[in-house]
Amino acid sequence: MPIQDELASTIQRLIQPGQGILAADESHPTIAKRFTAVGVESTEEKRREYRSLIFSAPGLGEFISGVILFEETLGQQSLDKVPIPAMLENQGIVPGIKVDKGKKPLVNAPGDEITFGLDGLEDRLEIYKNQGARFAKWRNVFHISATLPSRQAVEANAETLARYGAVCQSLGIVPIVEPEVLIDGDHSIERCAEVSEAVLREVFIALARHRVALEHMILKPSMVTPGKDCPKAPPEQVAEATLAVFRRTVPAAVPGINFLSGGQTPEEATENLNALNTMGTQPWALSFSYGRALQEPAQKAWAGKLENGPAAQEAILKRARLNGAARSGTYSA
Ligand code: 13P
Repeated sequence: MPIQDELASTIQRLIQPGQGILAADESHPTIAKRFTAVGVESTEEKRREYRSLIFSAPGLGEFISGVILFEETLGQQSLDKVPIPAMLENQGIVPGIKVDKGKKPLVNAPGDEITFGLDGLEDRLEIYKNQGARFAKWRNVFHISATLPSRQAVEANAETLARYGAVCQSLGIVPIVEPEVLIDGDHSIERCAEVSEAVLREVFIALARHRVALEHMILKPSMVTPGKDCPKAPPEQVAEATLAVFRRTVPAAVPGINFLSGGQTPEEATENLNALNTMGTQPWALSFSYGRALQEPAQKAWAGKLENGPAAQEAILKRARLNGAARSGTYSA
């Protein structure tokens, strides 16, 4: 299939009404943190058991269009001995893969960070594609303070995201471009809006510079909220502040904006997405690409015991269904 058709077909599968993306691409240290919270030691076998269980929840494909995997999972088999990417396809779900190699301090910019992983990216993408991945994810983060992020950090991170996006598209892989403005801190919602606007504007300048086809990418941003050390803002305020920034910075050619949950509780993440979808017609589909907000209840229900599998499946299905409703503004608690 020509590359343009391949990209268009993956985008179409990912952006379906009533559906969103499940981010299950936690790195080893991150999944260890999540497992520890429910009293489970993170081993390769336990990660396989847990992820295999949630991905095979009956009917998950009704609400989940794509799953982002970590490299290890892409090569694993389900509990029924089916390769995980094939098992997802059997559920009608597109397999995706996290391809960045994590972040480190940005030199000469105290407090800022930059994401690594561009070296050898083409070769890795070829392998992932052969294993069944049809889309990728790459995350850059931006810290907020009175002075952060620096101009350097905004530009360098935007450039990195755009280079990643261009490489993905050249190989027929849809890029999820994730500029995460972190929720950590005591900043106001106005300060978050200011930083988000500067970041998104720079990201789209860099994407244009690298000729990334906006029609064939998905944006995965954070919502505009107050810092996590401040009182929460009501969903209507979050939705209004988020849309004001996005309407100024995200071109209408972008087919989908799939928000990350970034430390919001599962309920908050659903309520905020629902509010976003009750503010009239927007140029893009507004959906979810949640990690914690979809998985937390399932991890608690599982607690490392195979016999809790059905309860874990029920828990993830519930969050997926509620977020599927929020995707069209029809969620009610
Ligand atoms: P959260 O929804 O838990 O923030 O995770 C999404 C994600 O993929 C972060 O890179």
